[in-house]
Amino acid sequence: MSSPVFTPITLGNMTLPNRIIMAPLTRMRAVQPGDIPAPISQTYYEQRATAGLIISEASQISPQGKGYMATPGIYSAEQVQGWKSVTQAVHKAGGRMAIQLWHVGRVSHHSLQPNQQLPVSASALPYENKTTIMGADGKPTRVACDTPRALETHEIPELIASYHKATELSREAGFDMVEVHAAHGYLLHQFQSAESNHRTDIYGGSLENRARLTLEALDASLSAWDAQHVGIRISPLGIFNGLNDRDGEAMGLYLAEEFQKRKIAYLHISEPDWAGGPVLSDEFRKAMRSRFSGVIIGAGNYTLEKATRMIESGYIDAAAFGRPYIANPDLVRRLQEGAALNPTRPELFYGGNEEGYTDYPFLA
Ligand SMILES: Cc1cc2nc3c(=O)[nH]c(=O)nc-3n(C[C@H](O)[C@H](O)[C@H](O)COP(=O)(O)O)c2cc1C
Repeated sequence: MSSPVFTPITLGNMTLPNRIIMAPLTRMRAVQPGDIPAPISQTYYEQRATAGLIISEASQISPQGKGYMATPGIYSAEQVQGWKSVTQAVHKAGGRMAIQLWHVGRVSHHSLQPNQQLPVSASALPYENKTTIMGADGKPTRVACDTPRALETHEIPELIASYHKATELSREAGFDMVEVHAAHGYLLHQFQSAESNHRTDIYGGSLENRARLTLEALDASLSAWDAQHVGIRISPLGIFNGLNDRDGEAMGLYLAEEFQKRKIAYLHISEPDWAGGPVLSDEFRKAMRSRFSGVIIGAGNYTLEKATRMIESGYIDAAAFGRPYIANPDLVRRLQEGAALNPTRPELFYGGNEEGYTDYPFLA
């Protein structure tokens, strides 16, 4: 099928050969202890190197930023070494790769936190959500997240500094870009949303105040790498991880304007309908487009047809695929040839080994 999806696009200082992006996908297979990217992850990402861009699974920027078992970090020397092997394998296979920088905030459990402390958030509000920890049998087990403690204002500079440091380490690890994860009910989104942010300091209250942490985290990345190498992901109106972003449109539009001022490489919009949220309206898509003239990546229930339509409408410039990329390492070729897609095996998404990870078949 002829589609703009298969045409090149400039992203930052790179030319992507196509507009099919591998979405960030948590797989919980990092080596323990230390949350170090596993050797099998080299194969996994290398297999997917024909994507226009690979965005890594979310990677915590500090031990406090962790909220699930066996997710990889980007704060220690061992993690940088692990990631270096991954980026080298991807580059050798002709691909390009960004890393997603993550702080989960309240989406955590004390057993995953340094010294078994409570997870942190904007406010100490009880909320309902579950996360995955390692059960006594070594298998993933679902548990309720803790009620978090509110970050003290004086703790925020150190938090911001961890985005700068993680960006420096990402460069050292050989990534082509970083993506700040400001979506899906994690820390930055917890500050954005009036539902989860009841603060009375400069990080709470007005829309501008609630956006402040997201922009300071972004600016911290931009102080470690130029705007051509930094993107961000948001999920306006999303219902994720116990957060219902029902007022998210105004925040999305304000953030898009601020991203435009900073001329960041891309704005990645995670559309909420794949996870029980609303379908974004054309009006909202248009308004986002009018505020951000850089590359917009759309994600959520994309097919070749949806990607073609959204690109031709001018709402997005590239499309990220999540679950299809888990099951189809050669997704670009399959879409190009109209070939059938391998079905996913959701029970193998999180944790485990090569099974359901590197064993999905390529087209003959
Ligand atoms: C197993 C799994 C893990 C995910 N991990 C992440 C993640 O680490 N970071 C993130 O921003 N989104 C994550 N997502 C959301 C995906 O990036 C994507 O937005 C979502 O799957 C919708 O796209 P799809 O319909 O093509 O699957 C995850 C989704 C799935 C299914």
